[in-house]
Amino acid sequence: MAELDRATAERWISRWDAQQQHDMPDREERFSALFDAVEAGAGRPDPLMLDLGSGPGSLSVRLLARIPAATVVAIDTDPLLLALGRAAHAGRGGLRFADADLGHSGWAGTLGLERPADAAVSTTALHWLPGPALRAMYAELATVLRPGGLLLNGDHLEEDESAVPVLARLDRALVEQEHRRRVRDGQPDDWKGWWEAATAAPELAGPAAARAQRRWSEDHHGSESVLLGEHVASLRAAGFAEVGTIWQRGDNRILCAVSGS
Ligand SMILES: C[S@@+](CC[C@H](N)C(=O)[O-])C[C@H]1O[C@@H](n2cnc3c(N)ncnc32)[C@H](O)[C@@H]1O
Repeated sequence: MAELDRATAERWISRWDAQQQHDMPDREERFSALFDAVEAGAGRPDPLMLDLGSGPGSLSVRLLARIPAATVVAIDTDPLLLALGRAAHAGRGGLRFADADLGHSGWAGTLGLERPADAAVSTTALHWLPGPALRAMYAELATVLRPGGLLLNGDHLEEDESAVPVLARLDRALVEQEHRRRVRDGQPDDWKGWWEAATAAPELAGPAAARAQRRWSEDHHGSESVLLGEHVASLRAAGFAEVGTIWQRGDNRILCAVSGS
């Protein structure tokens, strides 16, 4: 079986980033806004942070570039994305990948945290969890964040169309227009194309087989928890004290929640 070396993993992650950026043209701006919030709110120069649904670690490594004294635990359950992250970033100080399913209770206890986390960050991941799993995940997260610790969730979270139809429509329109403005000729892979290429690559055959064994495929995810109100209610039920949007373009937003005492 072909080896997955660092340079090859980095190439796959560049392709991943291009694919994600294609779907979210303002992905890097959202990262920057999220880091501004972490810097202003983590409360110490060496925060301990969790990256929920980290994929191959795109958010984690940018976060470490911005806050070099931080420690980031990048959590995901996809064997192929974890393999890419581990191969590309092996030996990188302050970063470790954890194989854990956020949809199953007990995930926080498997992380081996030495102290409560100062912040949990996430991009384009938590909408994958169905409602009951999302509520349980936030409740478990609250047990490992320090009082006053932050959740910063960057994702497309929609207004409830039945309650505020015009706002919901305009939120979508802004994102679609932005996409049209920014997308250029010479398209990178889309989501499906990236996965088809990655799971066929000889150097990724091992992790692709592990992925298939977990029945984890590119079609596995739905858009389960896409309503803003669902996230806000779940966070409040989990005891978070303040919950609100701190950055937004249409329905693309960063939802922030402050852990209670
Ligand atoms: C669209 S990707 C985003 C990855 C990364 N945050 C980024 O912005 O590039 C969604 C990620 O969430 C992860 N994910 C989905 N459900 C998960 C679960 N139950 N537990 C852990 N990770 C999960 C997927 O494996 C995938 O890596």
